[in-house]
Amino acid sequence: MSHATTDESVRALAGALARARHIAVLTGAGVSAESGIRTFRDTMEGLWKEFDPATLATPRAFARDPGTVSRWYDHRRLGCLAAEPNAAHNALAELERRTLARAGRFTLITQNVDRLHQRAGSRSVVELHGSIIEWRCTITGRRTTPPAKPLPAFPPPSPFHPEGLLRPDVVWFGEMLPESAVEAADEAARACDLFLSIGTSSVVYPAAGFIELAHDHGARVAEINPDATPLSSRAAWTIREKAGVALPGIVAAMPA
Ligand code: OAD
Repeated sequence: MSHATTDESVRALAGALARARHIAVLTGAGVSAESGIRTFRDTMEGLWKEFDPATLATPRAFARDPGTVSRWYDHRRLGCLAAEPNAAHNALAELERRTLARAGRFTLITQNVDRLHQRAGSRSVVELHGSIIEWRCTITGRRTTPPAKPLPAFPPPSPFHPEGLLRPDVVWFGEMLPESAVEAADEAARACDLFLSIGTSSVVYPAAGFIELAHDHGARVAEINPDATPLSSRAAWTIREKAGVALPGIVAAMPA
C-alpha cells in the first residue's frame, strides 16, 4: 500500500481511472453522509446508536410489530426523498459518463437504499440491499413507489392483496440479497481492473466480499474513506478524505 500524499494518490488514481478497461465501484453510507443521511456505525450519531438493529431491521421485528417498523422506515424514506445528491454522487455519475464515452465498462454497486445515485444520473446501479423508496406487498411481492408524503396508515395495507401489508423493499438482517444484484456485483468484481471502495466500513458481507474478490482477481483497489477499514490493506491507494471532496478532485484531475 502506497504512503503517497493525498495529492499524489489523487493524481495517480485519476490517471488509472482514465485508462481502466472496466471500473467497478462499491459505495456505502459514507457517500450519502454529505447529503445529510446518517451512516450506521461510524459516528456516535450513527443510526444504530438510536436503536438496536435487531429490534427494527429484521423480518421477525416486522412480524412482531409491523406498525412500529413501517413507521420508522417511512420516516427514513421521507428523509431520503428530502435529501439531495451530493458532490460525491454527481462525480460518480460524471465518471460513469466519461468511462462509457471511451468505450470502457462501469458498474456502480451500492449498499445504500436511498436512490441518490440514480437521482444524480448514475445509470448502472446495482442495489445490493434493495431500496427504501420502493415498498412491496408481503403476500404478492408486487412493488409500488409511495408518493413523497407520509404513508396513510401504519402498518400500511397492501393495495395488491386484502391480507397483505406493504414493507420497505430493503434487505433486512437475515434476509437474502437480491440474486440478480449479487450476480451483477460478482461478475463486475471478477471482471474489473479497477475497483473503488467508497464510504463503507467494509464489515458487512457479502458486500465487503466484493472488494476482496476484485483484489483476488487482479484489480487494483482504491479506498476513499476518512477512516481506515479492515480491508484498507487491499488498497493500492487510500484517500483519507470525504467522498464529496475527494471524488470531484479525482474527476477534475483526470486527463481530458
Ligand atoms: P457504515 O455506517 O457501517 O460505514 C460508513 C463508512 O463511511 C465509515 O467507514 C465512515 O468512515 C465512512 N464515512 C463517513 N462519512 C464519510 C464521507 N463523508 N465520505 C466518505 N466516507 C465517509 O455504513 P456501510 O458501510 O454502508 O445494511 O454499512 C453497510 C451496511 O450495514 C448497510 O448497507 C446496512 C447496514 O446494516 C443493511 O441494511 C442490510
